[in-house]
Amino acid sequence: MATLKAVRGTRDLLPPETELWNRIEATARKVFARYHFGEIRTPIFEDTGLFARSVGEETDIVSKEMYTWEDRARAQSEKSQSLTLRPENTAGVVRAYIEHKLGESGLLQKLYYIGPQFRRERPQKGRYRQFWQIGAEVIGPPSAGSESPLRDAEVLEMLATLLDELHIEGWTLELNSVGSSADRARYNDVLRAALIPVAPRICADCQRRAVTNPLRVLDCKVHEDQAIIDSLPKITDSLDQESKDHFAAVTAALDAAGVAYKLNPRLVRGLDYYTRTTFEFTHGGLGAQNALLGGGRYDGLSEAIGGPKAPGIGFAMGLDRLVLTLQSTEPDQKAAAPRGVDAYIAPLGEKLNAAALVLARELRRAGLSVELGDGSFRLRKSFEAADKVARRIVILGEDELQSGILTVKDFASGVQTKVPRAKLAAMLAK
Ligand code: HAM
Repeated sequence: MATLKAVRGTRDLLPPETELWNRIEATARKVFARYHFGEIRTPIFEDTGLFARSVGEETDIVSKEMYTWEDRARAQSEKSQSLTLRPENTAGVVRAYIEHKLGESGLLQKLYYIGPQFRRERPQKGRYRQFWQIGAEVIGPPSAGSESPLRDAEVLEMLATLLDELHIEGWTLELNSVGSSADRARYNDVLRAALIPVAPRICADCQRRAVTNPLRVLDCKVHEDQAIIDSLPKITDSLDQESKDHFAAVTAALDAAGVAYKLNPRLVRGLDYYTRTTFEFTHGGLGAQNALLGGGRYDGLSEAIGGPKAPGIGFAMGLDRLVLTLQSTEPDQKAAAPRGVDAYIAPLGEKLNAAALVLARELRRAGLSVELGDGSFRLRKSFEAADKVARRIVILGEDELQSGILTVKDFASGVQTKVPRAKLAAMLAK
């Protein structure tokens, strides 16, 4: 029988690498708390219609990459339903915002999430079919100030702080405005007209997009199309005064805070819900999949899925890509197999196994990390096993148990000492 493997595009994360994942998550939670974000956990699957109406039917995500299935009714009272593994989390958060009437508090809702997302993309370095995002959304009624450009600048400033605290160096913040939905409609017309003469020279996907959703042409990745795309009219020239003012206020606040950015008029992002500010933080060390994170403002999303007016802005960071970046810039992060175990307890003979468990329980309850050997091991085998994982070995034989004086050997110094059981935890903690 063929051996079973993790499905293409999915991975097992193993220790010690998972320690790096946990460290990144802990840093993110700490920074989010300082900016007064609370955690939200939404279901991993949702009604397919949610993504079609928010991310957009024409996007690659919805048209090609979703894991969708028909969930058959199990009782007459149920209807069968089309369900989808979430390809991203913003749609779920906004659905929850509407469902729980979070806007009725009149306050801004600041919500973060950490969790797996699913897209049937072609797997490669930094691109997986199950990947992890750390994201956050700021959403609320306009009366709570949710439309203010200060919110955009604050989110971007928080991201710069978070990347600094994660010790990720050499990132670039790319910034753009895609304007209001009216601006975008106007720009789509301009683009559609500009694409007619060049259509025969662009890729098949872009020829289709040029008719259905010309904006999507701008995020085409086909190498041969790039020069043509660069020569197309810029979205920034189609913005109305209000959108221009909003964007100018965002950049002014970033300048004041000393957060550097690069304007990129082609940054329209691969999801349809964006309005006004869009951004990505890129990193050269990642290769083709160079976006560490992406986000933007989505002032019409709540209404598009049947909710009240609730402008918002948010982002999602690719956790897999943060890990890759840290591993490439700090190679010891990858290897780091910390000798995290304070003591290895070696019972001398199987009759002492239960007593060893009691001793381990005592030490672990005192906050120490302890590895437990087995009385069937010869002493030499215990020493070898202990030396691989622990800083010290504690020998527990019949004499030690009776006298309450334990033998402890420190591997780094080679020194062996006798320690009364009552003082063992304090000694091992040093
Ligand atoms: P996104 O640009 O589709 O935006 O994804 C955000 C980040 O998730 C990307 O920059 C990348 O780091 C990571 N990512 C995406 N796809 C993959 C993949 N196949 N493998 C590994 N990492 C991946 C969103 O998802 C929006 N919901 C962000 C947002 C939140 N906008 C407003 N609020």
